Amino acid sequence: MPINPPLRDVTQPREHTAASIRYNVNCLHVRWTSGEISAFPALWLRDNIASARHRDNGQRIFDAMDLAQDTAIGTANLDVNRQTVAVHFKPDALNTEFDAVWLARHALPPHISAAPEPRVWDNTMNGRLFRANFATLESNDDALRDWLRAIRDDGVALLHGVPQQPGQVCRAAELIGYVRETNYGRLFDVVQEEQPDNLAFSNTGLGLHTDNPYRDPVPGLQFLHCLEASANGGESLLSDGFRAARELREEWPSDFATLTQHSVLFRYQAPGVDLQARAPLIETDEHQRIRAVRYNNRSIAPLDLPAVSVDRFYGAYRRFGQALHAAAAVVSFSLQPGDLLVVDNQRVLHGRRGFSGGRRHLQGCYADQDTLLSRLRIMEKSA
Ligand code: FE2
Repeated sequence: MPINPPLRDVTQPREHTAASIRYNVNCLHVRWTSGEISAFPALWLRDNIASARHRDNGQRIFDAMDLAQDTAIGTANLDVNRQTVAVHFKPDALNTEFDAVWLARHALPPHISAAPEPRVWDNTMNGRLFRANFATLESNDDALRDWLRAIRDDGVALLHGVPQQPGQVCRAAELIGYVRETNYGRLFDVVQEEQPDNLAFSNTGLGLHTDNPYRDPVPGLQFLHCLEASANGGESLLSDGFRAARELREEWPSDFATLTQHSVLFRYQAPGVDLQARAPLIETDEHQRIRAVRYNNRSIAPLDLPAVSVDRFYGAYRRFGQALHAAAAVVSFSLQPGDLLVVDNQRVLHGRRGFSGGRRHLQGCYADQDTLLSRLRIMEKSA
């Protein structure tokens, strides 16, 4: 029986056999058979005892603010055979056990390195787009898992054979989890209209963009299902925002810093709607890894940066746009009726060429990225 529930993912599991321990009132040190030593502060350990979390859902069932600030380790003993560490805490005289595997998987930095940045792609992705058949995914968990992995790792995947009926785009999203409703509804139509209130509903080309940067949070995944294709043009365009951001970081580091440090306002107004969100075009995490890209020429509001920063921002914005739109960066292909495209909307930009000759009708919907990752974790555990 696991002693501690999982707290977070670790991409590089450590050697998890504990060879010996040392401790003082403030910290437990575990020496692994690899020779490495991990330090676990007393307060952190006390905060992560197994009984602090619900047995089934792993949620914390007490408030860390209730812990005594003078929490200390009274005694600690390693059982090498069982690979457990028994700890007596002061001042609340609490006795508990920690599983050595759990400790190894949650060892604090610097022992665990940050997860690597995802692989990125350029226009050679054209022939490598991950493709799957809808009916196969509905009946084969292995095939579904591979498709979900492609979305996670490449930020894009295709489906073929989705029934050419309205509403089927939601069925595809439900392969992953739940449809995210917005003011556009549970799903939305992208079809030529006489007087569109959004450029997406006209027959002109659409520049590369991420959807709905004016929302907080931004929709994590976008699904587009082709019901009717135009006779001429209308090709879908894709560009890997992470690749362009990484190029900017390598070639123009001051531009990268500008776009990560300055937040801009995105806005969408329509009758009864005034959506606004402020965020940087390139978002990084605490390890300076690229974690999200927002790029949407149609919905960026007038810049309200300090005047002294405006020229620098436009220079950086232009160079980022050039990296995104470079011929070597853009994938182009035609969606046929029954095809469905899914993109990571915080990474992969999409657009389309203008079209003529008949109707072009797509249906789209959104879902959340965390649902995808949750589904994958559960499938990979049961594989
Ligand atoms: Fe879009």
